[in-house]
Amino acid sequence: MLNKMGEKHQRPHAILVAYPLQGHVIPSVHLAIKLASRGFTITFINTHSIHHQTSKARPHGEDGDDTFASVRKSGLDIRYTTISDGLPLGFDRSLNHDQFMAGLLNVFSAHVEEEVEKIVKLGGPPVNCLIADTFFVWPSKVAKKFGLLYVSFWTEPALVFSLYYHLDLLRLNGHFGCIDARKDPIDYVPGVQSIDPKDIMSYLQEMDTSTVCHHIIFNAFKDVKGADFVLCNTVQELEPETISALQSKMPFSAIGPIFPPGFTKNIVATSLWSESECTHWLNTRPPGSVLYVSFGSYAHVTKSDLVEIAIGLLLSKLSFVWVLRPDIVSSDDADPLPEGFKEEAGDCAMIIPWCSQKQVLSHPAIGGFLTHCGWNSILESIWCKVPLLCFPLLTDQFTNRKLVVDDWKIGINLCDRKPVSRIEVSENINHLMSRKPTNDFRKKMEETKKMLENALTATGSSEKNMEQFIRDLEVTIQKLCNKE
Ligand code: UDX
Repeated sequence: MLNKMGEKHQRPHAILVAYPLQGHVIPSVHLAIKLASRGFTITFINTHSIHHQTSKARPHGEDGDDTFASVRKSGLDIRYTTISDGLPLGFDRSLNHDQFMAGLLNVFSAHVEEEVEKIVKLGGPPVNCLIADTFFVWPSKVAKKFGLLYVSFWTEPALVFSLYYHLDLLRLNGHFGCIDARKDPIDYVPGVQSIDPKDIMSYLQEMDTSTVCHHIIFNAFKDVKGADFVLCNTVQELEPETISALQSKMPFSAIGPIFPPGFTKNIVATSLWSESECTHWLNTRPPGSVLYVSFGSYAHVTKSDLVEIAIGLLLSKLSFVWVLRPDIVSSDDADPLPEGFKEEAGDCAMIIPWCSQKQVLSHPAIGGFLTHCGWNSILESIWCKVPLLCFPLLTDQFTNRKLVVDDWKIGINLCDRKPVSRIEVSENINHLMSRKPTNDFRKKMEETKKMLENALTATGSSEKNMEQFIRDLEVTIQKLCNKE
């Protein structure tokens, strides 16, 4: 590759460390592919555990031990390696969540450092930067130790980043970290007009701020202040004010939505559970008639809410595909559905442990999505113009719900307050799925999809932000090289 002066210059080599959770691995893999398509050399680091699960889940024989083998064949320079997250492979990370998180907080960085050192000393293309999930607590320190630039990757909306970033402000104003937290709207965070305390991330609504997740958040958002760049899986036009305000503090680029090339084609296996086939069943259903139900990869639903949702689904009389992860209530409760539910639902229901969500959402039979409001799910649903029925459970999902329902008006709430009741479940499902012209959320969804589509065109905001990021990164690398 030649630069403007006609000199040969090498594209950056980045080590990319994915956070070992499903909703983070997926966008990280596709970020790797995006950057490699623009000439980057990427060394992708997964944990042994994520590698083991994705390998086990995919159809036999695909790609063997190397997740990226097929993309490499298409000419992309993505290398792949795995490291320990500190726990044995067979350890139930879902059942022992806090222990898993404590490992990520305290032990994981030692494994990362060892691997980064190996890669840096390997003698391949010189490594220039470390791309790591913002939720890690160590990247700026590790990057500094090896003379690398740190690019922080944020997989949630800019609004969520901003609220965590301004934690001290929330604390100072009495909205967080005190016994009697204020209940009035938060209207002083730069770039955030106003947000109700019930809509901030679940961790910031909790009284006990000494948990392992709190330690992760506090330390991660201290560490990100040392980032050279932040890449965010959002779109500038979706959150213009929040993003502008963040940009006055740090180089923050909206480069989303980050999807695989072709959207539904899984060129790299990323699912932690085996995907059940749904297309044949969906092919037999009329357009827009099926509700897709999924609560993502991470959060749990209480048994009583699950029962109300199940009965509400039956009362709605609609067809549905329901992804019921084996640990949806808890990995020690194998069959949490009410007795006789499957029989009563009969052919109206397809109940599966996991699917290719992008494929399901793209199917013309799908007319609505009952979702926990995970950020990836929201972006994918917008892409497929499927309106959302929101039932947030944990973490950023409450804040994402606010964006979807209150700000962008592309979905509705499943319930006004918890616990949810079967009657409101069935009423709201029918409201979401009805094709009444008064249902404005379908029109809004069309407009929002357009926004995402435009952002990815050659002159669109995400494309331009990506180009600018690469230019700025290369200039910074050059400056560092000249200093040496
Ligand atoms: C959590 C957070 O809530 C989310 O906002 C954050 O960005 C990641 O961690 P998670 O529960 O994983 O999210 O949900 P989501 O962000 O929606 O990601 C789930 C991913 O799994 C999506 O890409 C979805 O397509 C995929 N999926 C889900 C499947 O491929 N098959 C399924 O059956 C269900």
